[in-house]
Amino acid sequence: MNADSRDYAWPHRHLLGLEQLSVQDICFLLRTAHGFEAISTRSVKKVPALRGKVVVNLFFEDSTRTRTSFHLAASRLSADVIDFAAKGSSVSKGETLRDTARNIEAMGIDAIVCRHHLSGAVHQLARHVLCSVINAGDGQHEHPTQGLLDIYTIAKRWERLDGFDLSGLTVAIVGDIAHSRVARSNVHGLLKLGAKVILVGPPTLLPASFADMGCELSTDLDAVLPRIDVINMLRIQFERIAGHVLPSVREYQHFFGLTARRLRQAPDHLLVMHPGPMNRGLEIESSVADGPNSAILDQVAHGLAVRMASLFLTTSVRAAADAPSA
Ligand code: NCD
Repeated sequence: MNADSRDYAWPHRHLLGLEQLSVQDICFLLRTAHGFEAISTRSVKKVPALRGKVVVNLFFEDSTRTRTSFHLAASRLSADVIDFAAKGSSVSKGETLRDTARNIEAMGIDAIVCRHHLSGAVHQLARHVLCSVINAGDGQHEHPTQGLLDIYTIAKRWERLDGFDLSGLTVAIVGDIAHSRVARSNVHGLLKLGAKVILVGPPTLLPASFADMGCELSTDLDAVLPRIDVINMLRIQFERIAGHVLPSVREYQHFFGLTARRLRQAPDHLLVMHPGPMNRGLEIESSVADGPNSAILDQVAHGLAVRMASLFLTTSVRAAADAPSA
């Protein structure tokens, strides 16, 4: 489990998902993030690691937290950053993703951070450009930096930053599993690092295929709470839901909302996480989100370090030396 960095060189020009990363890759990236974490606490919050490089944020979907986090991560590494929002760009005039990306790349770009509403779009993009591509969330597929920052938060809380071995820990991911790229990236990473994963939600939002990957599935949050160490509450992805998969939001809240009353069934040490944006009062009660078990703001802080590591490592790999991108 412990990645020995002496015999290891980060091989991936792109960061597209946790499914393609080995245990060694994940440990190396998180250890690099740990090294970067301290920079945010210094009075001068900058290092010259990416000086002279250019990072483009190419977001085709709304985002506040992730876009800002990538922007800040690139700035802290002294890269120049350009924020490119699809609204008001040539994309709204019908330009394809590939043309947009290739035009941007022609300006001398080192990395594109891309968020897109279609699953797989970011992989397509990576096939057509020579610069690094980092997936900032593609449809319902993956959101690798979110998965990594969630794992980092868990490993830090249990002092597992050495080997990132999460065995013995049980993590519940609760909510709209079917439409969640956060869930998918978490599942890939957590299982690789040895954690037990329980996915909890209404049957319509809980695809059986996750059981084949090694997850336990449950529709009963109350039964699961006493035997978990970490709970990751997901937002219902109303924008990705087609058709009627929930009888009512009120019923969902009744069975799956994390309330202070419900929290009493869990061990005192339960770590409460949420990727944001939160629907306070729906999947999570405000007193829990802001309470002593909550690691939600730590997640945001760790996101910065994980994104610095992702930008730093991917841009260190030159196109010719790249392992085949998946
Ligand atoms: C997540 C996303 O966009 O997938 N949020 C995020 O990256 N901060 C989760 C969500 O939208 O619910």
